[in-house]
Amino acid sequence: MAKLWGGRFDGKNEAWIDAFGASIPFDQLLAKQDIQGSLAHVKMLIHTGIIDEADGNKIIQGLLAIQEKLAAGELTFSIENEDIHLNIETFLHEEIGPVAGKLHTARSRNDQVATDMHLYLKDVVKEVIDLIAAFRHVLVEQAESNIYTIMPGYTHLQHAQPISFAHHLLAYYSMLTRDQERFTESLTRIDIMPLGSAALAGTTFPIDRAYSAEELGFGSIYSNSLDAVSDRDFILEFLSNAAILMMHLSRFCEELILWCSHEFQFVELTDTFSTGSSIMPQKKNPDMAELIRGKTGRVYGNLFSLLTVMKGLPLAYNKDFQEDKEGMFDTTETIVKSLQIMTGMIQTMQVNHERMKRSTEKDFSNATELADYLAGKGIPFRQAHEIVGKLVSECLSKGIYLQDIPLEEYQAVQPVIEADIYDKLDSYTAVKNRHSYGGTGFDQVKQQIEAAKQSLALA
Ligand code: ARG
Repeated sequence: MAKLWGGRFDGKNEAWIDAFGASIPFDQLLAKQDIQGSLAHVKMLIHTGIIDEADGNKIIQGLLAIQEKLAAGELTFSIENEDIHLNIETFLHEEIGPVAGKLHTARSRNDQVATDMHLYLKDVVKEVIDLIAAFRHVLVEQAESNIYTIMPGYTHLQHAQPISFAHHLLAYYSMLTRDQERFTESLTRIDIMPLGSAALAGTTFPIDRAYSAEELGFGSIYSNSLDAVSDRDFILEFLSNAAILMMHLSRFCEELILWCSHEFQFVELTDTFSTGSSIMPQKKNPDMAELIRGKTGRVYGNLFSLLTVMKGLPLAYNKDFQEDKEGMFDTTETIVKSLQIMTGMIQTMQVNHERMKRSTEKDFSNATELADYLAGKGIPFRQAHEIVGKLVSECLSKGIYLQDIPLEEYQAVQPVIEADIYDKLDSYTAVKNRHSYGGTGFDQVKQQIEAAKQSLALA
């Protein structure tokens, strides 16, 4: 069949050049949305009297037949038909004959493709929001089981101060909450309909855009036709939100990878989320966590790729826009799967409570407790810091820890130190006493969990 736009062309075409221009190998993922958009458009054409009802109904029946074939996996797309829009229109011609040509009245592929992508991303973002909520749920569950699990808190990856493992998990909960908010807020900018902008300037036909928007369930309509067909901000925002989300998942994965190592042994991932080595029989590798960390790179890349595609484009449509799709599809698949894997991995991980607590006992992460103790007894904090620094240095040369220093020695250094210091130096007590709002104290962590549960129940 001749090309649908073939009128002014002499009919000769080269397959390899067609293949370069075609988007059907990837934009076939928009088939459902393309049919949905066409159905709304043809109903609007009937409603406004732009085409008569008999013709319109034939088109509707034809589109519904194609929809069924799509669901049954019976459609074979072709490169000659370039993209999803021309493929579907060609199927329509095959179904109902020349009347199919009326569907494209008052429409262009430019507003059509933009509409398809808005519809597609609306569904994707809703799915992503649900997946993030499910992951947050699991984080809260794990936090609740680990309120009293004591671990070293780190700065510079050095033992800093003891914390509750729940507090650590809830930090990720907070990041994921922001991610979910970002995706939710972005919906208002995805939920806008470009359809009816036609190629770039609108149309002379008496279309009813509000009617189409109602049919498609769009919350609003683009008010400038040039913007409507050339706006890809909503995709960039999705890619950017996805990049931030992946950065969070990647940081978490990095920690899981460390925690699974022989040096840490803080957690163990289940076999499902681990793999072995083909040569070293003892190995249990955190491959899934490593892959999520690795896949973060392609998600960042997709954002940069589209930003770069867009930066020099004059208004309105340019074929460059066709490059917006693969990164969007790839990012969608990557974040959906990464969220599913993360959720399963965290839900099933085994936490090595003893090992975590023990690693806060043979270290100096209680040095701040001693300094705070002195400051609490009226010694200026800077001076207290200096005193404790010297004690740490002496301990290091003797190969002991602060809790091993006998009371007489403490009192020789500072008479204000009493026997209650040893309890203060215990990592459990150090965590328990951090009552400041948002701190790691058990009361604070419990409050965070309560608030999280309420917010999840509301969501
Ligand atoms: N496949 C094209 C794309 O993805 C559809 C729009 C084509 N419009 C055009 N004027 N060539 O952008």
